[in-house]
Amino acid sequence: MLFRQLYDSVSSTYSYLMASRRGGEALIIDPVLERVDHYIRLLRELDLKLVKAVDTHIHADHVTGLGELRDRTQCITIMGEHSGVDVVSMRVADGDRIDIEGVGLGVIYTPGHTSDSYSFQMADRVFTGDTLLIRGTGRTDFQNGDPRAQYESIFGRLMKLPDETLVYPAHDYKGDMVSTIGEERAFNPRLQVKSIDEYVDLMNNLKLPNPKMMDVAVPANLHIGLSQDDVARHGWAVSARDAIALVGHSDLTFVDLREEREREKTGAIPGSLHAPYPHLKEYLGTGGMLHEFAAATGRRLLFYCAFGERSAMAVAAAQKAGFTTACHVHGGIDAWRKANGPLAH
Ligand SMILES: [Fe+2]
Repeated sequence: MLFRQLYDSVSSTYSYLMASRRGGEALIIDPVLERVDHYIRLLRELDLKLVKAVDTHIHADHVTGLGELRDRTQCITIMGEHSGVDVVSMRVADGDRIDIEGVGLGVIYTPGHTSDSYSFQMADRVFTGDTLLIRGTGRTDFQNGDPRAQYESIFGRLMKLPDETLVYPAHDYKGDMVSTIGEERAFNPRLQVKSIDEYVDLMNNLKLPNPKMMDVAVPANLHIGLSQDDVARHGWAVSARDAIALVGHSDLTFVDLREEREREKTGAIPGSLHAPYPHLKEYLGTGGMLHEFAAATGRRLLFYCAFGERSAMAVAAAQKAGFTTACHVHGGIDAWRKANGPLAH
């Protein structure tokens, strides 16, 4: 197991890079924009392929590295379903899992610091974002923060994890890097309250100044979506409405880039092929499933995913690989559902 705790000294943010082996797939949690060059170098040095970048919540103190990492590595960007971000590639809900080769993160919805705060649990550790900090908790006075919800998230969810679970937060301002659930229960001053009301009082009277970066970071972090307009300008996009009329046509095939779990949850476009995005390169290469399928049938490939992010990147890759008729469904299944497109389970 490769595990790196990375630090941005400007915003005191911790980011976490993990992979099951050298040469394998990697995932990063809470990357910082200004540190992206550093992450890319590290990925190269460790011979890792970044496949997923995840944010625990919309940050107010730094600009996320999600968009930049997506543009430079074609990775999948992920946030929780409660996040107000314009577009990420994948949205996860409480109880879901985020998987890469050899590593799985359990998704725990832990609102309170913000209404879109999530924690991610992996084997012996939990990434708590700003929900639970070392000897502290994330403020609850902006971004739909709610001390009552935070109390429930901490005591009702995180404190139910085994005492020895390692706690890796999104920030630390005092030099601590890791703690445990048991240690925080015993020594975190914010958790030494007798009731939810006492916690709410405590949090409502912190009187903290707004973060310096807030006016810049929050708006920037809300708009990290890939511009699908570039792909549309090339003529490689089909609107959901137009795509619905193409279901069943014998000269094209819909290609679903989502993961099995996403397909089970929302259903798939009837008759579509399944080609999960992380393996797209192999599928498009000689001998690959899509390569052979297109060669054998002469069919046009119409990619789709959840929001059109992965499929936009897939079209660019397919066009580059010589699939000159490839296109994608603009806005993905999200747009498809809004246009009342048929879905099969
Ligand atoms: Fe935060």
